Amino acid sequence: MLVLFSLVLAVGAAAQSISPSVQHAKRHSLPAGWSRVRRHSPDAVLPLRFGLAQPNADMKSLEALLNDVSHPDSPNYGNHWSAGRVAKHFAPTTESVNTVVSWISDSGVARERVRVSKTKGWVMVNATVAEAEALLNTEYHVYAHDSGKEHVACDAYHLPAHIVPHVEVVTPTIDFNAILRRSASPTGTHIRVGEPGFGTVNPVMKSKISSIFHQLDDCDKQITPACLRALYNFVYPLPLAASRNSYAIVEYTPQAYLGSDLDMWFANFSSDLVGARPVLKAVDGGVVQTDSKGFNFNGESNLDLEYAMGLVGKHQPVTLYQVGDLQMGASFNNLLDALDGEFCSFEGGDDEENDGIYPDPDPAGYQGALRCKDCGTIKPANVISTSYGYNEADLSPAYTARQCAEYAKLGLLGVTVVYSSGDNGVAGNSALCLNPDGTQTRGGKIFNPSFPSTCPFITSIGATQVNPNATVFQPESACQQVIFSGGGFSNYFGIPDYQKGAVEGYIKAHLTPSPYPAGVYNTSGTSRAYPDISANGANYVVAVDGTFALVYGTSASAPVVGAMLTMVNDARLAIGKKPVGFINPMIYSPAFQGAFNDITTGTNPGCGTPGFNATKGYDPVTGLGTPNFAKLLALWLLK
Ligand SMILES: *[C@@H]1O[C@H](CO)[C@@H](O)[C@H](O)[C@H]1NC(C)=O
Ligand SMILES: *[C@@H]1O[C@H](CO)[C@@H](O)[C@H](O)[C@H]1NC(C)=O
Ligand SMILES: *[C@@H]1O[C@H](CO)[C@@H](O)[C@H](O)[C@H]1NC(C)=O
Ligand SMILES: *[C@@H]1O[C@H](CO)[C@@H](O)[C@H](O)[C@H]1NC(C)=O
Ligand SMILES: *[C@@H]1O[C@H](CO)[C@@H](O)[C@H](O)[C@H]1NC(C)=O
Repeated sequence: MLVLFSLVLAVGAAAQSISPSVQHAKRHSLPAGWSRVRRHSPDAVLPLRFGLAQPNADMKSLEALLNDVSHPDSPNYGNHWSAGRVAKHFAPTTESVNTVVSWISDSGVARERVRVSKTKGWVMVNATVAEAEALLNTEYHVYAHDSGKEHVACDAYHLPAHIVPHVEVVTPTIDFNAILRRSASPTGTHIRVGEPGFGTVNPVMKSKISSIFHQLDDCDKQITPACLRALYNFVYPLPLAASRNSYAIVEYTPQAYLGSDLDMWFANFSSDLVGARPVLKAVDGGVVQTDSKGFNFNGESNLDLEYAMGLVGKHQPVTLYQVGDLQMGASFNNLLDALDGEFCSFEGGDDEENDGIYPDPDPAGYQGALRCKDCGTIKPANVISTSYGYNEADLSPAYTARQCAEYAKLGLLGVTVVYSSGDNGVAGNSALCLNPDGTQTRGGKIFNPSFPSTCPFITSIGATQVNPNATVFQPESACQQVIFSGGGFSNYFGIPDYQKGAVEGYIKAHLTPSPYPAGVYNTSGTSRAYPDISANGANYVVAVDGTFALVYGTSASAPVVGAMLTMVNDARLAIGKKPVGFINPMIYSPAFQGAFNDITTGTNPGCGTPGFNATKGYDPVTGLGTPNFAKLLALWLLK
């Protein structure tokens, strides 16, 4: 015994001297409602998964790759990549697979217990807690939530230095993630992305209306397609390339559209669309459910589809990515799994706390073909608009980085991804703000940015309004009715090159010195600012559950911008050009400066402050401004 003991010690010491242990991730606080109850039992089994590092997927490399196909000065502008090239470029190396597998088996876990996913993205082992603790130099504890739910996690974990470059993320480790978000919900219950009460899923309905104003004079009271066309100079003749073009709206079950509402809206605004429906592409059992009705179940989908379909017209089909079954629900990673088979990991590389795990363990839920989840089943549309978002702080930096890299890959494929920027100004969903310990409460003083808006590889859309008593021919303001345009500076992502000049200008002119105490937002000037652009988000006339109502939110702004970009794509495709793809390097470039209506009034309050000011030039309230479609089209046809 004694001999064996000293032998083990000696091996441990040798390994240490070759490769010191390095902390890979650490949680700074326990989410609200959770407490540590006991050390986890050493012989319990954990499904340990190592997400391998993707080469070339660091922010700087991704930005350089995207610039090559998206920057106006690049000779390769528009030369988007094939899906195969993307997969190959980011596939984890054989060296990473071998290094991680050898390390695990050299640590005493039999090689045959270690499995590698088909796509080589994940190394997996069912490890006892004792084995996992030894591998990761950590301690696993069981935590209990006030609601009674238990969760296994550690506070921090370590990897040998020679393993660090090969591993992006290890699960289960520090993440409570979405539980932070759920515990913040009014009921403290588990809220998935599409459910009522989750974040920006709910555009806000103020009042029902009994009559629709059809005069442009009334756009300060009611926004209709005619108002938007006038505001943004958005007139486009019949599409010429509809069969090659595509525009997708993303919805998360149980949020769903009601056909009778679409028809009611079409009858008043676009009568040739009566009877038209989006082309359904279900992901992981997505269903357009009609069991639960009401504004909270239909408001978002109706708003998005009425305006997306109404603005592109009947000749351009609109696709609906309906994500998640009724039982499990789903999250952004589930959609990304369907758009990119390589991102998808076998046996669910998704995070159980954030993403739907398919096949759904509930026998009534979605099982998929061959008891599978949907991986790489959908060829991405040219433009994808999503009006849902998390607070960046709901998610760990590693999780957001991995997802953000996927948006960059979509950009390489020539896909434009737009997200609404949030409806609570500088505060997060549900008006939550951050505290110094990382928790989120309504009384928090620290600005709470929105994700994926802070990912530098998507286009974030803020909200504006027609001012009271003003016409569509007068400048709009940042939205100051019912909702405030989400905006600010990321705590996770560095500033991309394309916005450096714009953001530096804003910081120099308006935030030097900062009117806010240190620590309220990232003042470094080196973090990603959002939104990128904006569009009207107030007083939308929407048909919901058999009546017309006025609806507010960046939820409205995103699909409107998506519709305009879809028509730009039509014009480009019609003359043999490629779709616009990732637009940010282009829209921030000097050539595009006149293509946006600069918004210079209004603020985005939150966290007990007036937030930031909309000003001349870029601002973290309305971005570069609202689109002038005719000018954008002309500029994009030259490229
Ligand atoms: C871990 O155990 C589960 C349940 O027995 C099994 O389904 C899974 O395939 C195992 N995974 C690995 C990597 O051995
Ligand atoms: C919508 O259109 C229908 C049919 O044209 C019409 O009867 C109704 O009054 C319109 N609704 C409103 C609120 O204008
Ligand atoms: C708009 O006009 C109405 C009627 O003329 C007036 O009562 C109201 O105060 C005006 N509102 C603003 C914000 O100017
Ligand atoms: C601000 O953001 C930058 C870029 O992401 C980061 O390097 C820096 O650590 C952040 N500063 C603070 C105080 O969070
Ligand atoms: C916004 O503008 C007001 C009025 O000019 C000014 O007092 C305030 O400091 C500005 N706030 C920020 C964050 O720029």
